[in-house]
Amino acid sequence: MRVFSGIRPTGELHIGNYLGAIKQWIELQEKTECVFCIVDLHAVTTPYEPENLQANIKDVAIAYLAAGLNPEKCIFFVQSEVKEHTELTWLLGTITPLGDLQRMTQFKEKSKKHKEYVNAGLLNYPILMAADILLYKTDLVPVGKDQEQHVELARTIARKFNKTFGEVFKEPKVVLPKIGAKIMSLQKPAKKMSKTDDPRGCIGLFDEPEEIEKKILAAVTDTGRAIRYNPKLKPGISNLLTIYSLFSGKGIKELERKFKGKGYADFKKSLAELLINSLEPFRRKRKELLQREVYVKEILAKGQKRAQIIAQSTLQDVKKKMGLT
Ligand code: TYM
Repeated sequence: MRVFSGIRPTGELHIGNYLGAIKQWIELQEKTECVFCIVDLHAVTTPYEPENLQANIKDVAIAYLAAGLNPEKCIFFVQSEVKEHTELTWLLGTITPLGDLQRMTQFKEKSKKHKEYVNAGLLNYPILMAADILLYKTDLVPVGKDQEQHVELARTIARKFNKTFGEVFKEPKVVLPKIGAKIMSLQKPAKKMSKTDDPRGCIGLFDEPEEIEKKILAAVTDTGRAIRYNPKLKPGISNLLTIYSLFSGKGIKELERKFKGKGYADFKKSLAELLINSLEPFRRKRKELLQREVYVKEILAKGQKRAQIIAQSTLQDVKKKMGLT
């Protein structure tokens, strides 16, 4: 079984990225072959600062390693350093219906958000993502809920290619965490936690204790008193309970019992303390890694070589089947 997943180097990682994706990757790297990628070519489809991109890539690499990615146990590399991703994107584009791209939720949302920046790259984003996944003959793709539709499209593209030109690709399956596939904003619990949204609604993986405490205590909740899981009626408290459960390893029911009769303030204080303690090792490891830039570069260079061997072999197969060699 081979696993592939990616993350964009756009700003700081938050606990939604961690609980939705990275936490699963860390578990999977112990069990099976894993390929993890910093997808810089996806990051340039929305407005960005070219002069900051390299620093962001380095930051994300350090963040992954600090959160527990083990370069001895997985392949870890930067997307644009393996040219086969863009070449396969072009080839897959020739069998992807335009209508499939136009109906993607993320395309519609991002086009609305960046009206002045609706470019063909943004539309083709899911083809590049399909190329990322299919190049490695991936079986499983661990992601958060918002990426499920893109993985479905990658499956459709794989099926269509195999049928049209002959069997090359596997049909990848999405892996969503049982809970935590969509961590919500602390300020707007009906919207997903996002690095580009209100920073007060988002807990960074490396936030300092004071920031964590401030954000959790200010998290939006309902006017009731009971600490009960009910995403429809109590979206704020339910989101906090999900976060509590995932960081503590305790079930939601157990937490409801633990906080029975207690107020929101007690619950929030306890959650802030749990997060501060749980994220402390990440902060420490990150500080260490910030001093070891050469080591981080070497990891990515080694990852690039290993990824390229697999990617070249798949692309060769594809070109042969398409009559290009
Ligand atoms: P990106 O960079 O937006 O997010 C990285 C991962 O974090 C998950 N995630 C969340 N999970 C739970 N709750 C949230 N609030 C939350 N916010 C983000 C995302 O689902 C994702 O798993 N297109 C992808 C990157 C990508 C990729 C790939 C992923 C490119 N190629 C191939 C898998 C396979 C993206 O923009 O993720």
